[in-house]
Amino acid sequence: MSKLLEGKRGIIFGALDEKSIAWAIAEKCHEHGAQITLTNAPVALRFGKINELAEKLGTIVIPADATSLEDIENLYTKSMEHLGGKIDFILHSIGMSLNVRKGKEYTNLNHEWMKKTFDISAISFHKVMQVAYQNDVMNDWGSIVALTYMAAQRTFPEYNEMAESKSLLESFARSFGYHYGAKNKVRVNTISQSPTMTTAGSGVKGFDSFYDFADKMAPLGNADAESCADYCVTLFSDLTRMVTMQNLFHDGGFCNMGINSAALL
Ligand SMILES: NC(=O)c1ccc[n+]([C@@H]2O[C@H](COP(=O)([O-])OP(=O)(O)OC[C@H]3O[C@@H](n4cnc5c(N)ncnc54)[C@H](O)[C@@H]3O)[C@@H](O)[C@H]2O)c1
Repeated sequence: MSKLLEGKRGIIFGALDEKSIAWAIAEKCHEHGAQITLTNAPVALRFGKINELAEKLGTIVIPADATSLEDIENLYTKSMEHLGGKIDFILHSIGMSLNVRKGKEYTNLNHEWMKKTFDISAISFHKVMQVAYQNDVMNDWGSIVALTYMAAQRTFPEYNEMAESKSLLESFARSFGYHYGAKNKVRVNTISQSPTMTTAGSGVKGFDSFYDFADKMAPLGNADAESCADYCVTLFSDLTRMVTMQNLFHDGGFCNMGINSAALL
């Protein structure tokens, strides 16, 4: 297969361990010839395995809390220094809910924690784009992708306040996609991914049965992290230059299903 990202420079947020979707995406981008830097929250660097990934891909890790404008600015400066120029693509693969983590029911949420959830899981996406936009970090025709989930459109009770986080995230993609497209032809999209066995995914109550249900319901079965990485590479490549402001379902067809007898058994 030809290398779709030869000569491109990218920044990958959110690889924690080998189960992370961002881990598979980083590996795939590297395989396709991109030069990348990796980043995650300082705390994740202590208990995650991102340094192993950096070693494998011959790159560096630049710590950044995605809720901090200063950290993001520093990340971009160091990435451009390391990679030798402006950036062609950014992956936002970040999600965390304190209410989910602490087992709070949707009808009894702590709203201070909710604000933190929105800040980490959605507003960080606006921050990532705003700092890039204001500091002219992206090359023209660059591509920015964030990962999302269908609970933004449909009700999945156990997904809790992450549903609203994802609605906000997807809305930022549309709104910022307008501004960045008009200014630099930079495109902004979200990929709405199938349930995937990762640290963040399995934090959702009843994740295993939910994963099995989606797998049976989707005609192609659940999309795994590896195929999400393949899809992401196409969105970072020049083959999708006119795709922007979209929420793109990558879920084996699940989102358009009504009923499937296999899922009822
Ligand atoms: N796993 C699934 O079923 C699934 C399905 C659809 C979408 N997604 C989305 O995919 C993305 C990646 O999640 P994942 O499933 O690979 O799990 P993951 O736990 O491997 O990744 C989540 C990442 O967010 C990072 N993070 C948390 N707080 C941060 C902060 N303040 N600053 C910077 N980084 C921070 C974590 O360190 C971690 O690397 C998330 O947006 C998630 O909602 C996951």
